[in-house]
This record gives sequence, structure tokens and C-alpha cells, in this order.
Amino acid sequence: GLICIFNGPNLNLLGTREPEIYGRDTLDDVESLCAEKCRELGHAMRFMQSNSEGDLVTWIQEARGKADAIVINPAAYTHTSIAIRDALSAFAGPFVEVHISNVHARESFRHHSYVSGIASAVIAGCGIAGYGYAIDTVARLLGHD
Ligand code: DQA
Repeated sequence: GLICIFNGPNLNLLGTREPEIYGRDTLDDVESLCAEKCRELGHAMRFMQSNSEGDLVTWIQEARGKADAIVINPAAYTHTSIAIRDALSAFAGPFVEVHISNVHARESFRHHSYVSGIASAVIAGCGIAGYGYAIDTVARLLGHD
């Protein structure tokens, strides 16, 4: 099946952005990790990033009927976006929410997520390895691992 991996704002700066929080790995490194994991599990992958909420909403809509599952790090939109939640609600397959950092150990405005309540699983604080765990999880939910 096809797994879409969507990344929200500022994740293009991974590796140079607050490395004490997000680490030194770049978004290209995250993509390589995801590609390797999807290959192992026999899934195709699309990996995308945008700083724009509208792009993310459009991509989630476009995944309908095409992708089997979504892995998403909505970044700061996690804490603000009803539009991304609504788009994910309209997606029939499983999706897993990923955060590189442990959002619950950080500022209180990061403790609430608009998408956690409709996600199949939520992974936070595992670093970029969390993307691999998310792919493992959707693969298990799809029954293909
Ligand atoms: C993040 C956590 C969010 O609170 C933050 O706005 C991000 C990244 C993470 O991966 O830890 O941009 O989603």
C-alpha cells in the first residue's frame, strides 16, 4: 500500500533549528529513514513538507482514495488547526501523529493537540526514530507487516 508522510511548518529547518530540542538530523535524514522503513515493510511512500496549512489540508484531501495510511507531524499546526483535524477526519484509513520532541514536557501550549483525539496512535519524544515507529504502527494496522 501507499503511506503518505506529511510534515508541517519549520520542519524544513530540521538539523539547524533548535538542535538541543530536535537534534542534528535533517529532514532529508528523516526521509531516508522513512524510505528504508517503508521498503522493509513493502509499502510505497510519499514524503512531503509544507509551511502552509492550506497545502497540508489539500494533501490530506488528495490522499483520500489513494493512500492507505498517513503519518503526520503537523508541527505547530497540531496546536492550532481545526482545518487539519477536519481533513484527517475525512480520511478513511489509519493515521499516526508524530512529534520529534516530547511536547508534554514543554510549554503548556504544546500539551493540547487538535488531532490526537482522532489519531490511531500518537508518538512523541522519540526523536526522528518516532517516524519509524509510526510507520511500523500503520503497517501493523494495515495488516501488512
Ligand atoms: C513538533 C512539536 C511542535 O510543538 C512544534 O511546533 C514543532 C515540532 C515536534 O516534532 O516535536 O514544530 O511537532
